[in-house]
Amino acid sequence: MNVIAVNSSPRGGGRSKTELMLNHLVEGMRAAGAEVDTVNLREKKIKNCIGCFTCWTKTPGQCIHKDDMTTEIYPKWLAADLAVYATPLYFHTMNSAMSTFKERTLPAVQPFFEKDTAGNTFHPLRHKIPATVWLSVCGFPEASEFDALSDYLNRTRHQDAPIVAEIYRTAAENMTTAFYEDEARDILDATTRAGRELVETLTISAETLGRITQPFVDPTAFAQMGNLFWKTCIAEGVTPKKFDEENMVPRPDSLETFMLLFPAGLNAEAAGNRKVILQFHFSGQVDGTCYFEVASNRIDAREGTSANPDLTIETPFDVWMDIMTRKADGQQMFLDQKYRVTGDLALMIALFKRDEGHRD
Ligand SMILES: Cc1cc2nc3c(=O)[nH]c(=O)nc-3n(C[C@H](O)[C@H](O)[C@H](O)COP(=O)(O)O)c2cc1C
Repeated sequence: MNVIAVNSSPRGGGRSKTELMLNHLVEGMRAAGAEVDTVNLREKKIKNCIGCFTCWTKTPGQCIHKDDMTTEIYPKWLAADLAVYATPLYFHTMNSAMSTFKERTLPAVQPFFEKDTAGNTFHPLRHKIPATVWLSVCGFPEASEFDALSDYLNRTRHQDAPIVAEIYRTAAENMTTAFYEDEARDILDATTRAGRELVETLTISAETLGRITQPFVDPTAFAQMGNLFWKTCIAEGVTPKKFDEENMVPRPDSLETFMLLFPAGLNAEAAGNRKVILQFHFSGQVDGTCYFEVASNRIDAREGTSANPDLTIETPFDVWMDIMTRKADGQQMFLDQKYRVTGDLALMIALFKRDEGHRD
């Protein structure tokens, strides 16, 4: 099978979740024996369709423009058995780069009007065009984000170019956070599997699609974490790209958000076979207590005071947030007596060893 994979995300440098998903799909397709040509539209010069209909009249089947679309991409697209269109969801639909690409495939249809079996008017094809797979990712957690795109694609598809699969991944930006490593692994493995299935059967099984689309973020935690992330970007004057490059950490602004975020920076394995209790007493901007029950395979956060903590940290909230967001050095702050620790200090060092940030 000859496949063209068209990626319209403008984000390079490993930041695009569209590309992340597409790469896994393509890996599966190749493993199943397909020849796959990936085209990153961000690297190409593709002019807008100007609606001149030269491709229907003076030079039938040939666009008036001379650019990367005419010289390189369009011939590849025509020769493909299957086209994968991978687009970030922008305002509930494909982004403008993908839309520009789609418009420039107009030479493949003829100007004439025919009726399909449902009595709707359509333009007959000039050439055989590839069957399609749509892949899209979005930021929000609700599956309904893709309703408008899916509805549009199914209403506008050509009767002779079937859509063989639609793959939609919500909350895609969360896939690369430390919190969801396991879920992301499963989603990406399933996406690779989907690539194999597409080549072997021209469809994706319900089981595989179920794994790809699995809900993995709690909508309340999603909003809390997302808001902290954006507040931190605004406060520090950094873009998400810079935030990631600097391995920054969102700054909690309440006990609740601290309890949500703090576990991602803990090395739970330091607890070994036992359950370790880590107690915090905060003062200042946030006055409250909470503790974490840390076992090697899970961390539970609870508000209040534990009867038997292994380690207790008493600190102004701001001081600890400075340490957590790497604005202050934890050891230096300890030496300067900005916070107090009682209990097993060696355990504390081991627990805090994993300090790699929350988004990679
Ligand atoms: C202009 C713009 C519009 C967006 N519109 C939506 C949207 O309607 N729904 C949504 O859930 N996410 C939306 N997003 C978020 C993107 O879909 C999300 O960041 C996605 O990961 C981008 O794909 P990429 O990582 O491949 O670049 C939008 C992002 C941008 C920049």
